[in-house]
Parts: sequence; structure tokens; C-alpha cells
Amino acid sequence: MSYLKSVGTAVIYIGLILAVITFIPGLPPEAEFVEYNITPPRQFDPKVGPKNRLNGIQKLFDGAINAPESFGSYDGQLYTGVHGGYVLRIEEDDIVPIVKFGKKCDGIWQEQKCGRPLGLKFDEKGNLYVVDAYYGIFKVNVATGEYTNIVNVTKPIDGKVSRIPNSIDIAKNGDMYWTDSSTDFALNDLVMTFLMNPSGRLIRYNAAKKENEVLIRNLAFANGVVLSDDESFVIVTETVRNRIMKYNLKGPKAGQHEIFIDGLPGAPDNIHSDGHGGFLLSLIVTTNNPELPQIYQSLIPHPYLRKMLVRLFVTMELPFKLLNDVYPNPYTERILHAIGSHQGIEFLSDPKQKSLVLRIDASGNIIEILTSDDGSAHDISSAYIHNGFLWFGTPFKNYLGRVPLKQAFPDLADSAKQSSHTRSEKHSSNVAASGAKTERVKRDTGSTTVKPIESNRASQTTPKPTAAPTTTPKPKTTAAPKSSSVPKTDKPTATASNVKPSETKSSTNAEVKKDNAKPVDDAKSNSPKFEKSNKKEDTAKTQSEKKVKVEQNASAKQTEQKSQSEKVKRETNRPKDDL
Ligand SMILES: *[C@@H]1O[C@H](CO)[C@@H](O)[C@H](O)[C@H]1NC(C)=O
Ligand SMILES: *[C@@H]1O[C@H](CO)[C@@H](O)[C@H](O)[C@H]1NC(C)=O
Repeated sequence: MSYLKSVGTAVIYIGLILAVITFIPGLPPEAEFVEYNITPPRQFDPKVGPKNRLNGIQKLFDGAINAPESFGSYDGQLYTGVHGGYVLRIEEDDIVPIVKFGKKCDGIWQEQKCGRPLGLKFDEKGNLYVVDAYYGIFKVNVATGEYTNIVNVTKPIDGKVSRIPNSIDIAKNGDMYWTDSSTDFALNDLVMTFLMNPSGRLIRYNAAKKENEVLIRNLAFANGVVLSDDESFVIVTETVRNRIMKYNLKGPKAGQHEIFIDGLPGAPDNIHSDGHGGFLLSLIVTTNNPELPQIYQSLIPHPYLRKMLVRLFVTMELPFKLLNDVYPNPYTERILHAIGSHQGIEFLSDPKQKSLVLRIDASGNIIEILTSDDGSAHDISSAYIHNGFLWFGTPFKNYLGRVPLKQAFPDLADSAKQSSHTRSEKHSSNVAASGAKTERVKRDTGSTTVKPIESNRASQTTPKPTAAPTTTPKPKTTAAPKSSSVPKTDKPTATASNVKPSETKSSTNAEVKKDNAKPVDDAKSNSPKFEKSNKKEDTAKTQSEKKVKVEQNASAKQTEQKSQSEKVKRETNRPKDDL
């Protein structure tokens, strides 16, 4: 009796607390939560798929590469960005750190300190532009590691600060098209972001005027972005809303946006050119399986519920934030990260969840849908063609995946052999040679002792979301930005071609070779630069600590390992220090 009574009392109290959290004024966020809709998944001609051509994805650098998200390539070299903040160059049997914009950090629970490079894109001269979710957009000389800040995200754009700068593409005239996934919460509060009203934006950086201009607002987690081959339009993915928006740059509808494709069978992430006028889109999770409902998306029609949940998360974080301000320590940092990041709801995800890779033509028609039935196609955030392979990024795994392009898209592999190439891929591929390469990489990675070290580290330090897929993509909220709200104003920014970023005439092969032959020196030479550009004392400290470590490691290594590829070790150790 009294037991029942106290249960009843508890229920009443919990209800009251939730009601207070939901309705009390002054608690962040104050926003009016709105309902919006998601077009249900369309039916596709079974001829387009899904086809299990992603079976047997090869896992490279297993345990040594932490959550590579997306890709960029130039001069036959592939680059990616990882947890810990580094941009890496992927070589056949090696991972070479190029640059990092954040500070020294201990693990991904300090993600905001580490930095998190998401989008990468080379311009035609070989300058790498990197979008770091915490530090903004940088232009990088990949031969020297030198970088300059192009977009400082602490400055509001159109009245709002960009909280999650995400992806980028670059027009021939140097203008940058980039996405801001949210103006409400940072990447380490992804859970809240998905529950908020859509606040993502497509932004153009006018290289001539050095100004940012918002092209589309209220996107439900604006994510991947890519220009069409003829630069007549740019498309942007909306992860929470299962659709892609198109912004017209030329023609009668220039300056207007419209739906490019909606009703996708999953949550779209990065998108890249397929090299033939179309696009490769990754759907990080499928959302058309009734047995695996997407919880975020099912909450979209319930604004009060979303508001309550966001406030609940914010309220839960509050005491830890206060504690951490007064007494910074790794425990509260980890708790904060666990609450806000997708890890907090990881238990909801399902390993059966599949990723899909879609090939879409320039008119928005789906040509092919690829996946796997052996569990390989999981957590894919990016599908990128490079050197005869289709490479896969994943924000939740510690390897780099790929399959031969022949296997995934035989027609693209065939034409790659004959014709020259993609916008993104200037130097392509020798498909025949790549088979041999693969084996070599496998062998090397298998035997490297570095690997185990790395993977231990990874498993201790990074709480990784094993199953993550379902959790991540999701819903957002808000007011449907219909196409009408488009800013009509955009004036063609162009003119910028001359304004182009200067330096790096590009990493010549020679430079690059030299570069990776001496990674340690490279690291040293980077440090003064970091200091200079950040002028922060602790950064300087960090860098010199790092230097010392690298030196220690280098000498330890020399004595120790003759037989192994020293290079591999040194390099993999380096990012480790910072992870
Ligand atoms: C951005 O601007 C702020 C304030 O002016 C400055 O403190 C910060 O260092 C800048 N960030 C970068 C990456 O340059
Ligand atoms: C590299 O340095 C770290 C930190 O000093 C150390 O723990 C690790 O054992 C070193 N690795 C090698 C191979 O010397």
C-alpha cells in the first residue's frame, strides 16, 4: 500500500519536474519549437537497387585511424580528417599527419579542444580548404603544414554564429560554398541539435569580397555540399529531413532554391561528385525500415516533447558544466560529452542498421543504390572515388574502408580507365595497379605493431559508439523553410578568380615525398606555425611538449625497430599524443 503510494508520488513528482522543465521561462533554449514534416521514403525501381556491391569492404589502418569523416584529394593523394583534430594524408601503407587547428587534448570527450576537421576540398591550385567544426575554415599548404584562417566562426554571419561548420565545395572562381549544420548547439551536443528546430545554413564565401552570405536558412542539419560540374547549381544535404536542396546559381531560377530530391530512404551525410556529372551520396543510416524506427524523426511532430528533451539534456549538463568551470577535470568532461554527443543515446542504435550509397544524376534521379548484406556497409558518412577505389568515411569507426571501384560502380571504373577525370580527382587511377596495392596495404597494416597500440588507445580513450548508426541522423525540427524563403539576393560573386589564394603552388610530388620521408621534422616545422597563428601560450606549450615527445619516440624507435617501417610508427605515434 504505502509502496504503491510512494511510487505514485514519485510519478507525480517526475511529471511535475518535466512539466516545469518544459514550460518554465528562462531555461535555454527559449525557442518556440515547431512541427515540420519529412517526406516519407519513396519507392524506388528495384532495378536501381539496393545492390550488395559493398560487400567485403576492406578495412585499412584498423585501429590506427580514428573516425575519418570525409575526403579530399589532389595530385593523386588522398586526405581525410579524424577525431583528435588532425588532417591526414593517406598513403599506401602509411598515415601522415598534415595539420591540426585545435589544441592538445586527451580524447574525444575534449573534442571542442582537439578540433574536428569535417569537410575537405582542394582548389585548382592545390590549396586544401578544411572545415573544422570547432575552429572554422582554413586554407592549408599540405606540403608545409602552414595554414591561415579564412572564416572565423566566432563572428556572426547574418546575425548568427555558426556552431557546426561542416562541409565545403569550391567554385572555379574561388568562392566557397559551405554548410553550417546548426546555429544552436556545437557538434558535441549533437543530440540537442537534432531535436531543435532546423537552423542549418548553406553559406557562400565570396572570395573577392571576403564576405559570407547565407543562401539557404533553416535547413535540418545542413551537411554535405557539392557544386554541379557546370557550376549552374549547388546542392546541400539535410540529414534530419532525408532530403537534398538545390540552390540555383545560373539560369532563370538563379538565386532561388528548391527541393532536389526528398523522400530518401535514409539520412544523407556527405555528397561528392561522381566524376561524370552526377553525385555520390551516403545515407549514414536507413530510415525506411519499420523495425528500426528513427527516434529523432518520430519526435519531429511533437514540439513540446522535443523542447522538454532538449531542456532536460541542457539541465542535466548544467551542474557538470558548473563543476567543470570551477574544477576542470576529465570526469565531468567525459560525462558532458556522453550526455550531449550521440553516445548518450547509443543504446538506441542497432548494428543491423545499414548504410546506403546512392548515385544520383544531375537532375536528381537515383541511378543506383548500393549497400551490403554482410554487415560491411555500416556508418558510412562519405563515399569518395579515388585511385580506382570507392573509399568510405565513418565517424564511428577506427578504420578506413574501401572497395574496388570496379566492384561498386563498374561503369565508372571502366570510364575512369579511358577518360580523364573528375573534378575532385585530377589524377586518377590506375585500376589495374590498384589490386596489387590493396594487397600490400593489407599486409603492411596487418603486420604493423603500431596498430595494436593505437587500437588500445582508441578503445580506452574514446568511448566509441559501436552501433551508432541509428542514433546519429536525425530529426530536427522546425519550421519548414519552404522554398519561398530563399534569399533572392545573391549576386553572382564570381570575379574572384584572380583573387585566388596564392601560395602553395601545390605539393609537387617531390615535396610531398620529402615531406613524408621526414614526418618528424615536419612536425617540428609545424610547431612554430601553430604558435604564431594561435598566439596562445598553452598552444605553444603544447607544441613543444609534442616536439619533445616526438623526439623521445623517435629515438626510442630507432633503437627498437629496425625491421618495421619506421615511418609508419612515427606517424601513428604522433597523432596519438594528441588524441
Ligand atoms: C577568431 O577571432 C577571435 C576574436 O577576434 C580570435 O580570438 C580567434 O583567435 C580567431 N580565431 C582564429 C581561428 O583565428
Ligand atoms: C611514444 O611516446 C609516448 C609518450 O611519451 C610513450 O608512452 C610511448 O611508449 C612512445 N612510443 C614509442 C614507440 O617509443
